Amino acid sequence: MHSFRLVPEIRQYDTTKEFCADLHIGKGDLLLISESLYDKFFKAQDKGAIPVFYRKYGSGEPTDLMVEGIYRDLQGLSYQRVIAVGGGTILDVAKLFALKNISPVVDLYDRKLEIQKEKELILVPTTCGTGSEVTNISILELTAKNTKLGLADDALFADKAVLIPELLKRLPLRFFATSSIDALIHSIESFTSPKANAFTRMYSKKAMTIILECYQYIVEHGPESRADVIGDLLTASTYAGIAFGNAGCAAVHAMSYPLGAAYHVPHGEANYAMFTGVYKTYLRLQPDGVIAKLNEHLAYLLGCTPEHVYDELETLLNHLIPKKPLHEYGMTEADIDSFTHTVMTKQGRLMANNYTTLDEDTVRGIYKELF
Ligand SMILES: [Fe+2]
Repeated sequence: MHSFRLVPEIRQYDTTKEFCADLHIGKGDLLLISESLYDKFFKAQDKGAIPVFYRKYGSGEPTDLMVEGIYRDLQGLSYQRVIAVGGGTILDVAKLFALKNISPVVDLYDRKLEIQKEKELILVPTTCGTGSEVTNISILELTAKNTKLGLADDALFADKAVLIPELLKRLPLRFFATSSIDALIHSIESFTSPKANAFTRMYSKKAMTIILECYQYIVEHGPESRADVIGDLLTASTYAGIAFGNAGCAAVHAMSYPLGAAYHVPHGEANYAMFTGVYKTYLRLQPDGVIAKLNEHLAYLLGCTPEHVYDELETLLNHLIPKKPLHEYGMTEADIDSFTHTVMTKQGRLMANNYTTLDEDTVRGIYKELF
């Protein structure tokens, strides 16, 4: 059985002003946002929304501590809609604040609390990577468990996913690079997932095409030219979100989570560090099948032969962000075994979507090779 669905209504606006006016953003709204974005784009439009500046509650990737801190400060306040404007961090956190039960958040992820949607949820991405605006997944670092975990439930779908390219025009190069590489990996992992079907692969393929063409444009015209293609990349990252929201991500994400949690490596960069190691292993274990179709498509886009796609891809991506061995992020040899154990015991949701089965020794071997 194969299935495909797209739950949130997708809206595109040219400006935040148009967005605020059309959706009457104001009283009764909880607005999760950074202070700088609020000042620049929302303050003048705001008609009484409750702003929550989430960076006050922690930097980097979202954690259970951030959610608990916001939850405590919201006690006694009333709101009907939850609106999040930001990267994957805040979109994933906002999904929890649309639920009836939020705290203790660790119990939500352990499914000891009932997961029930209570508020309307509007998600506005400000990076071109997460895809979170169209998925039913919330990824959180659970500090007590020392890894990231994903909670997937239909109650976490947004009601509206809103794309506003204006918000990304000044995205710094590093965030641009790490977020768009994440989107590229979403499109690739969902393409080779056993849950993929003709519908998800259409979104995966189109996302890969747009992203790689944009990278080639940027390499030719210089890093500042990314502003010319940012709207296309925002669309591509939502396409990739639709693909992985249905077909799932897999080992690249699963193996990057312990690295991200332990050494605070940005999500897209941690994925990039794992990517070619995982795909070269897939190819060695099972060269025939969907991976051959993937490599043909990448070869067409990259102008090379299918045997050289991963090396060519690295050459292209290295213009945006250098690929580093894992020890350069702080990973130690002892981590190889502990990360492998974490992946094999805690990331079953993702490892079920691998192109071909990766056992414990193979996962350890990939970490060793990339170390
Ligand atoms: Fe991702």
